[in-house]
Amino acid sequence: MQAGLESLGIAVPPTYVELAELARARGVAPGKYVDGLGVTRMAVPLVEEDTVTLAARAARMAMEAAGCTAEDVGMLVVGTETAVDHSKPVSSYVQGLLGLSTRCRVFETKHACYGGTAALLLAMDWVRSGSAKGKKALIICSDIARYGVGTPGEPTQGAGAVALLVSDKPKLLAFEAGKTGAYAKDVMDFWRPLYSKDAVVDGHYSVQCYLDALEGAYRAYQEAAEDAGGEGAYSDRFAALVYHVPYGKMSRKAHRHVRTLDGDKEPDASFDRLVGPSLVLPSQVGNIYTGSMYLALASLLSCSREELTGKRVGLFSYGSGSCAEFFSAVVQPEAQARVKALGLENLLEKRRALSIPEYEAIMAAREKLDDKPAEETPGEGFRYQGTRDHKRIYAR
Ligand code: HMG
Repeated sequence: MQAGLESLGIAVPPTYVELAELARARGVAPGKYVDGLGVTRMAVPLVEEDTVTLAARAARMAMEAAGCTAEDVGMLVVGTETAVDHSKPVSSYVQGLLGLSTRCRVFETKHACYGGTAALLLAMDWVRSGSAKGKKALIICSDIARYGVGTPGEPTQGAGAVALLVSDKPKLLAFEAGKTGAYAKDVMDFWRPLYSKDAVVDGHYSVQCYLDALEGAYRAYQEAAEDAGGEGAYSDRFAALVYHVPYGKMSRKAHRHVRTLDGDKEPDASFDRLVGPSLVLPSQVGNIYTGSMYLALASLLSCSREELTGKRVGLFSYGSGSCAEFFSAVVQPEAQARVKALGLENLLEKRRALSIPEYEAIMAAREKLDDKPAEETPGEGFRYQGTRDHKRIYAR
């Protein structure tokens, strides 16, 4: 049985910071953030937004795009590393906000940025095995990426969610069964202790860990695909490569590494063709942890000028700590038109720029949000309002 993505949905905060402006405020040359890291804008969530509200908004877009009702969903998993509770999963809040059926399997997965991929691959097997019995799985990757004001990681923050509707009727991508290569290794490259809202990171070491994992997963994929041999670079078997994007430059480093492994003497030459379109949206949002690779996938389908129908896309998901997977999927007819119709570029254009003092005030306010007394907040859609009797309260 086929399994894949029937639709997707994206949620980003309505506000962002221009990285050139952040660089000037930090006494850094703007070229370092914009060209050196490859990020133009960084999404900054308002105080009434959290991992739950972003997840619910993304899910609503994915469900509406597919005409999917609450009763159609048989499994809801949220992959996140910035959950709002040590016990109750983000997915339960989302189930409530979306009014999903009580006959739904609902849970959360965590493994840094890989958590959503773990859930996606599991859902794929659930569909293929027949256990889904025609139901769909809603997999949501939702995070608020924080390293803190003034740290080297600051320009690589971001926030957002990507919802993936998985079923036996893939209208966007059909994933290739058995064609996955995993790589896992216990490393301390990036972590977030229980007492902290901000991630701790050994930045340059994390880049090396990412590249080591990419090499391991890419080799494992090649063995699993059992299609060794053939002319030219192995990665030319893909019409596009989508890498986990903590920042755009990391994708360039990743691609250079893959092409070097392929024996390509000019490893950068294929970058614009194979990777460029996947970075258009991420460069406007920043790192969204679990959702980063899927935002890059949405960017590819929305922004590529090449006709991709029937072509294979390679995907590389990396989660610090670490676990990584290289897998592949085939683009379905009209997938590009369907994703374009979501108007994602327009969605990003409509956001409002924050001044650096506004951004810093939001960062400080987030520290105290988890036990803020609940109050009515103006606005539309899903909003976090604070807590009452230690319970998080959301406006629908
Ligand atoms: P840094 O030390 O401040 O920056 O931190 P740098 O000195 O390495 O410079 C960055 C780049 O800018 C360099 O390019 C410079 O040459 C260039 P590169 O050598 O890398 O090609 N540069 C300039 N370019 C143009 N004009 C200029 C200029 N000046 C310098 N004027 C670092 C950079 C990424 C380490 C930091 O931001 C950080 O720690 N970020 C967070 C960690 C991270 O994102 N790691 C990525 C791999 S791990 C991962 O992806 C997992 C993750 O998503 C978490 C999860 O799994 O949950 C993070």
